[in-house]
Amino acid sequence: MSRPASVRIHPTADVSASAQIGERTSIWNQAQIRERARIGADCNVGKDAYVDFDVVVGDRCKVQNGALLYHGVTLENGVFVGPGAIFTNDRVPRAINADGSIKGTEDWTVGKTHVREGASIGAGAVVITGVTIGRFAMVGAGSVVTRDVDDYQLVFGNPARVHGWVTASGERVSSRSEVDRAHAAQTRTSDEESAQ
Ligand SMILES: CC(C)(COP(=O)(O)OP(=O)(O)OC[C@H]1O[C@@H](n2cnc3c(N)ncnc32)[C@H](O)[C@@H]1OP(=O)(O)O)[C@@H](O)C(=O)NCCC(=O)NCCS
Repeated sequence: MSRPASVRIHPTADVSASAQIGERTSIWNQAQIRERARIGADCNVGKDAYVDFDVVVGDRCKVQNGALLYHGVTLENGVFVGPGAIFTNDRVPRAINADGSIKGTEDWTVGKTHVREGASIGAGAVVITGVTIGRFAMVGAGSVVTRDVDDYQLVFGNPARVHGWVTASGERVSSRSEVDRAHAAQTRTSDEESAQ
């Protein structure tokens, strides 16, 4: 597949010919991008990151060093995935069937995980498959995410529990209504600046 001239792929990265890479995206040392993965524009995929087949990554995402994005994961635009974060895709993993034979691709169900626009996943977090992480949610470093996370929610710990709310810029606030107030104030400031 031909790629935009603005795409930068480090010579040691392993990028499948069938993977789509958007304009101005950089893929760094030893990263692996598998078959039919779709990575948007203006992304940064760090050293040793793994993007499995058919994974979708939106525009302006940052996938940090060593992050593992397994088949079944979709990241919308502007998602941050911290170093060493892992998206799992098999809720009940087994190497073998009950009869001792090795499991093939038909012998297990791929879980789906969806990360919505602007959300951040902290370093070393593990996301158990089957969850949706809401818009601009923040997952703390080292968390194990087992349940859906709402828009703008801050969660951390093992298992990850709700510890409050964050604005789109990441400022911690005490309630969801404060998130809305902060955004309204931001919009007013931007409107005033553009009117001057
Ligand atoms: C979750 C996070 C955003 C919270 O930041 P914060 O609001 O400044 O929180 P504080 O440092 O005030 O911590 C509040 C409490 O939560 C605990 N805490 C903070 N982050 C935690 C985490 N990830 N897991 C478990 N506990 C955590 C603190 O120990 C503290 O507990 P205490 O009150 O008993 O001392 C931040 O700690 C974090 O994990 N950020 C992600 C960093 C990251 O992965 N970056 C990736 C790029 S390098």
